[in-house]
Amino acid sequence: MKKLLAFVLVACMILALGATAFADDNLVGVAMPTKDLQRWNQDGENMKAQLEAAGYQVDLQYGANDIATQVSQIENMIANGCKVLVIASIDGDSLGTVLAQAKEAGIPVIAYDRLIMNSDAVSYYATFDNWLVGVTQGKFIEKALDLENAAGPFNMEFITGDPGDNNINFFFDGAMSVLQPYLDNGKVVCPSGQTEKAVVATANWATDAAQARFENILAANYSDGTQLDAVLASNDSTALGVENALAASYTGAYPIITGQDCDIAIMKNLIEGKQAMSVFKDTRTLASKVVEMVDALMKGAEPPVNDTETYDNGTGIIPSFLCEPVACTADNYKEIVIDSGYYTEDQLA
Ligand code: BGC
Repeated sequence: MKKLLAFVLVACMILALGATAFADDNLVGVAMPTKDLQRWNQDGENMKAQLEAAGYQVDLQYGANDIATQVSQIENMIANGCKVLVIASIDGDSLGTVLAQAKEAGIPVIAYDRLIMNSDAVSYYATFDNWLVGVTQGKFIEKALDLENAAGPFNMEFITGDPGDNNINFFFDGAMSVLQPYLDNGKVVCPSGQTEKAVVATANWATDAAQARFENILAANYSDGTQLDAVLASNDSTALGVENALAASYTGAYPIITGQDCDIAIMKNLIEGKQAMSVFKDTRTLASKVVEMVDALMKGAEPPVNDTETYDNGTGIIPSFLCEPVACTADNYKEIVIDSGYYTEDQLA
């Protein structure tokens, strides 16, 4: 009997603790796509820290790049009584049903970094200027090869990210708005012939898949000594796959390679000259903007937005806040990522 009572007591305590963990009226659900990529860990941690500092409770979950996992995490956040949802989706098109539940429960949804498509439950969007990310990469290649003046032709290959990530439409199309005219006038040629977004997409933005695709491209088009002049890579995880493939088999002059995120692994390559640039997106800035948005929503005020034209998710324009991306190279990385306190020298050594 005593044992039973003790068990019941402990069970009640656990239940009480579980309930009080999220009992207040200020729970914010934060769903991140994966822990595999450095940036999402930073995004999640920054947001949790900043939301907690502002007095909110945070249920932070990572979806292991698995759509069903992310859906069930969001269902739990709704069941736990969260008041606002912040979601960086794994697949922008797969959250319609669960977000309908959020809407039903009156929970506003902020799409974080990636727009959630075809759901009228999305209230706001906070991201970087994704078109400008692509344009920055395209212009970097244009300048580095002096495409405006040089005769060419230059050999270029292309790689972008997950087809379920709406951002690739901005990254890739933004870069192509600069580079396509040079493909059209013949100053740039693509020996693999792979220039279409659907063909150069990379499931889950996976480094392995990027490497495998580039190993094939190199074997089929560059093994005879043909020089690869540039690779437009939409982000660092895909750029890394390209760099791994080059290290394994390429012997020509090293190409210009773009990227995005300033991942630590890439910063080392950038400093060593194996990647010409990365686009720095300060996740601290994005997190603090989202905290402002959450705070406003909690207080019944208007969240800050600076774009009401660009991002249509299929149900209409989603009011957005776009943060500014910055080009980072071996010449300015100290100022951008070290002086700003984003990384320490040691982390990049
Ligand atoms: C983000 C990039 C990131 C990529 C892969 C995109 O939606 O905007 O910063 O590199 O996903 O995780």
